[in-house]
Amino acid sequence: MGPPVNRLYLGDNLAILRSQTPDASVDLIYLDPPFNSGKAYRISPEEGDMAVGIAAFRDTWKWDDAAKSIFRELIDSGPEKVVKSLQAFRDILGECGMMAYITFVAPRLIELRRVLRSTGSIYLHCDPIASHYLKLLMDSVFDRKNFLNEIVWSYDAGGRSKRRFGRKHDVILLYARSKDYYFDGDAVRIEMKAGKSSFGGRLCVDDTGRKFREVWGTGRKKLYRYYLDAGKIPEDVWHIPSIQSQDGERVGYPTQKPEALLSRIIEASSKPGDTVLDPFCGSGTTLVVAERLKRNWIGIDTSEHAIALARDRIEREFGATRTRN
Ligand SMILES: C[S@@+](CC[C@H](N)C(=O)[O-])C[C@H]1O[C@@H](n2cnc3c(N)ncnc32)[C@H](O)[C@@H]1O
Repeated sequence: MGPPVNRLYLGDNLAILRSQTPDASVDLIYLDPPFNSGKAYRISPEEGDMAVGIAAFRDTWKWDDAAKSIFRELIDSGPEKVVKSLQAFRDILGECGMMAYITFVAPRLIELRRVLRSTGSIYLHCDPIASHYLKLLMDSVFDRKNFLNEIVWSYDAGGRSKRRFGRKHDVILLYARSKDYYFDGDAVRIEMKAGKSSFGGRLCVDDTGRKFREVWGTGRKKLYRYYLDAGKIPEDVWHIPSIQSQDGERVGYPTQKPEALLSRIIEASSKPGDTVLDPFCGSGTTLVVAERLKRNWIGIDTSEHAIALARDRIEREFGATRTRN
C-alpha cells in the first residue's frame, strides 16, 4: 500500500517517516535540510502580517546530551556501514557541532532509504562545508555504487570575500536506490549554444542547414553528431539563478529554493503519478512544482510557519482541495 499523498505534515520528519510512510512507497526524495550554517533564520519582514520577522528555524548544532544519545542508539542498532562511518567521523571530528549535525542527518537518511522504491532516487541538498561528510554518510547508507552525481548548483548571489574565493555554489548529492533507477534526461534538455560548448568538437552544418557538433567518442573509434536544435542533457554544473527580492515566486521564507531547480530534479527523476517526498519542505517549493507536474507529493516540516506558507502557496495556485492535514 502507498503512503497518504498530497499531504503536509507538521512535525519532526523522523517520527513522521517512521509512523506514516510504508517501506518502498516513494519514487523521489529531495531534501534540503539545515546546512549547519550556525544561523537562526527569520521570515522576511517584507511578507504579509503573519510573517513579519518571525523565527523560521535554527541551524545551530551542539554536541549535547540529545546528540550523544542519538549517536549511542545508532552505534548500538544502526546498519553496520553507518556505524563504522559514524565512529570514524567521531574520531576525526571529535565532539563538536558538525558531529551533532551528522548525527542528526544519519537516522533520517536510514529512514529515507527504507521508504524509497527500488526505481527511486534521492537528491540531498547541502553546502561545501558539510558535503564531503554527507557524501561519505550517503555512501554508507545508500552504497557507493549507487552514487550518480555530485551536482554543483551555481548561483550569482552572495559569496564575496577578500580572504578567499567567493562561495557561489551549493552541492546536491544524487544517489539511486538501486541499479534499476528511473532517469529521463530527455525531459530536461537545455539549449546547446552554437559558440563554445562543453561538448567541444567541430561546429558543422549538414545538407539541410542543421547545425551540429562533431565529437570523437572514447578511443577515437567513432564520430558522434550532436544537433544544436535537439538541446543537451544538462551536465552536473547547473547555472540556475537563486531567488531574488523582486522574484514573483518569492514567498519570503529564508533558504527558499528556486522552482526551476526543483522542476529539473522532478522531471528528470520521476513520472506523472509518481510520489515525491520532501521531508524538510520549508515553504513548499518541491510540493508546488510536483503538483504542477502532476506528481503526488508529501511535505514535512517542524516549523508551523513553513507549513502555513506551503499550504498557502499550494492553495493559491491549485485550490484548497489539493492540501490535506
Ligand atoms: C533549508 S530549509 C528548506 C527550504 C525549502 N527547500 C524551501 O524551498 O522553502 C530547511 C527546513 O527544514 C526544517 N526542519 C528542520 N529540522 C526538521 C526536522 N527534524 N523535521 C522536519 N523539518 C525540519 C526547517 O524548519 C526548515 O523549514
